[in-house]
Amino acid sequence: MVPDFTNKVVLVTGASAGIGEAIALLFAKLGANLAIVGRDAGNLGSVAKRCQAERGLAPLAIVADLATDAGCDKTAKDTLAHYGRLDVLINNAGVGARTCIQNADMETFDRVFNTNVRGVYNLTRQLVPALIKSKGNIINISSIAGTCVTVGSLPYPMSKAALDHFSKLIALELAPLGVRVNTVSPGVTVSKFVQRLTDYNEKQYQDWLKNASGSIPLGRVCSGEDIAKMVAHLASDELSPLVTGTVVEVDGGMRFGNIGGLVQSYAK
Ligand SMILES: NC(=O)c1ccc[n+]([C@@H]2O[C@H](COP(=O)([O-])OP(=O)(O)OC[C@H]3O[C@@H](n4cnc5c(N)ncnc54)[C@H](OP(=O)(O)O)[C@@H]3O)[C@@H](O)[C@H]2O)c1
Repeated sequence: MVPDFTNKVVLVTGASAGIGEAIALLFAKLGANLAIVGRDAGNLGSVAKRCQAERGLAPLAIVADLATDAGCDKTAKDTLAHYGRLDVLINNAGVGARTCIQNADMETFDRVFNTNVRGVYNLTRQLVPALIKSKGNIINISSIAGTCVTVGSLPYPMSKAALDHFSKLIALELAPLGVRVNTVSPGVTVSKFVQRLTDYNEKQYQDWLKNASGSIPLGRVCSGEDIAKMVAHLASDELSPLVTGTVVEVDGGMRFGNIGGLVQSYAK
């Protein structure tokens, strides 16, 4: 069964690149009326054009920094003003870090937590009334880093552990109101994520991905589309009507392997 999001309003944060871009494109193909968010207006605009080519309808493109209260307020307000409702909230925007406690600084901590935790909390808080009205659902994009213990990417794994628990807490609170909340936890996925943290050129990044594939039981890293398909599955009321409070890993079994060396290979 192919999920159908015709007449559903779907908000995807961090849709200007990587996994969020793949999620936006898949939901456009599946008929959703989209609101997409990112800071980079140029990248967001080109994703909007590709979604329009799939859907025949331009998404609402919101340029906003979700690490700020103003960015969260604008995203919630513009989405509801434009569509008058919300059916699916996909909290995907996130940033990583390359820190150990011995070289930690508070600027990195604040950047990671303001984006990956505070922004998600703030945006979700503002959109929950609309989701209760539509009996909609929330998908949070976490990471297997939230449960694997590694050295070199503090405080990113802490932020994802907080996100996993946040999802479960609000899943329980919102279940009696008909709102489902689920989490998708990717393993290594092709995107700009690692390149934003490193000065790897394309060749070095491809080598890093090849090395990563060696620690993945199913033998390859994820594509954005691999993650997007699971998001659509969980967001579909037809496919997942009783699924809530789950954390679904899409990682090729990577969490069972030795991922410590991989994280350390780009740690400072
Ligand atoms: N790639 C992986 O291996 C991997 C693995 C596990 C989990 N994840 C998670 O997957 C999610 C997506 O990451 P990705 O791999 O697609 O990384 P990416 O290619 O770097 O994309 C990140 C997206 O988030 C947006 N973003 C970041 N900070 C933002 C902010 N303050 N306000 C608004 N938008 C913001 C970026 O947009 P702008 O640049 O336009 O602001 C971009 O669209 C993240 O939550 C990440 O933790 C990734």
